[in-house]
Amino acid sequence: MTMNNNKRIWLSLAHMGGQEQQFIQEAFNSNWVVPLGPNVDGFEKDLENYLGENKHIVALSAGTAAIHLALVQLGVGPGDEVICQSFTFSASANPIKYLGANPVFVDSEPETWNMSPELLRKAIEDRIYRTGRKPKAIIPVHLYGMPAKMDEIMAIASEFEIPVLEDAAEALGAEYKGQKCGTFGEFACLSFNGNKMITTSGGGALVCSTPEEAAMTRFYATQARDKAPHYQHSKVGYNYRMSNICAGIGRGQMYVLEEHINARRRNHALYREKLKDIDGISFLVDPNPDYQSNHWLTSIIIDPSITGFTREELRLKMEEANIETRQLWKPMHLQPVFADCPFYGNSISEKLFEKGLCLPSGPALTSEDINRVVNVILNLIS
Ligand SMILES: Cc1ncc(COP(=O)(O)O)c(C=O)c1O
Repeated sequence: MTMNNNKRIWLSLAHMGGQEQQFIQEAFNSNWVVPLGPNVDGFEKDLENYLGENKHIVALSAGTAAIHLALVQLGVGPGDEVICQSFTFSASANPIKYLGANPVFVDSEPETWNMSPELLRKAIEDRIYRTGRKPKAIIPVHLYGMPAKMDEIMAIASEFEIPVLEDAAEALGAEYKGQKCGTFGEFACLSFNGNKMITTSGGGALVCSTPEEAAMTRFYATQARDKAPHYQHSKVGYNYRMSNICAGIGRGQMYVLEEHINARRRNHALYREKLKDIDGISFLVDPNPDYQSNHWLTSIIIDPSITGFTREELRLKMEEANIETRQLWKPMHLQPVFADCPFYGNSISEKLFEKGLCLPSGPALTSEDINRVVNVILNLIS
């Protein structure tokens, strides 16, 4: 049997725990096959209990919608600037553009691959100097489930009195100093897209700090209806609520969230153990015990001057072996759509993009699957 006859190993497949269908069935039985309903309420409560810190959560149609509605509530409008981590997926930055505002991109630091506090400060000071105005918000990202340097970022944000919107789309279950990612900022977004820690097929949530923010999020997400017997609108609204069916999947997934986190951490540990003697391959690792990544995607950096092969050569070999891997995110300051945006850089994210690869990391991955992935690397070395 050739390698190509092997079953495909995917980067990050959804995994159902078994309880999901029961919640969906309840929705059918009670005819709550509509947006909102008991599953939505239940899923929001489950998430609030899980994250703690007295947060108020609104389930939405996507993580991107959550970022959008947070920015709306932070008063972001045409001509404003919002600071955003450059090394991320485009959904972190697109909603800034939806509002006619401009992203200001900030590069990463090498330990967590997330927003550099040093460059954040530089960017804020320089934007105030150049425009006479403060940026309206700061969007740090916990990329690949690795917590950003939240103490430093929050200290700078409070010094300049700029609200923080955490992008925790990839970081459900990750912790910084014993506190869950997604509970540090004024707002945070979560994603339940198909490849995330848990899925609702597609969906997201906005983590809010007050009941008033949560109520306002629900208001905007359901077409901004004024209190009136007829349909009346004083604000521009959106259709962003999660359906009761999708939330049923989410409630079921909460039963396996801990299992998913453990599985992804186990994958990461196995890869590291099996590749520990290979020079020229390094991992994104918790810098110290303050950082507890969920290891959503185990990510490696290849130094071709040591390994003798490039990231792209490895990716193609993986593909030949029917294994899906993925380049690290292409930084936003390199994206054509954001070419005109200010950028405060140090070339870290450019190097990560050039040399980095995400390895298959789904919760249902077996140790045989991991061996197959590792063997592709070992075969290239020998
Ligand atoms: C870092 C990051 N931010 C935001 C999002 C947007 O989430 P969604 O796909 O639920 O809109 C994603 C995932 O897709 C993401 O990876």
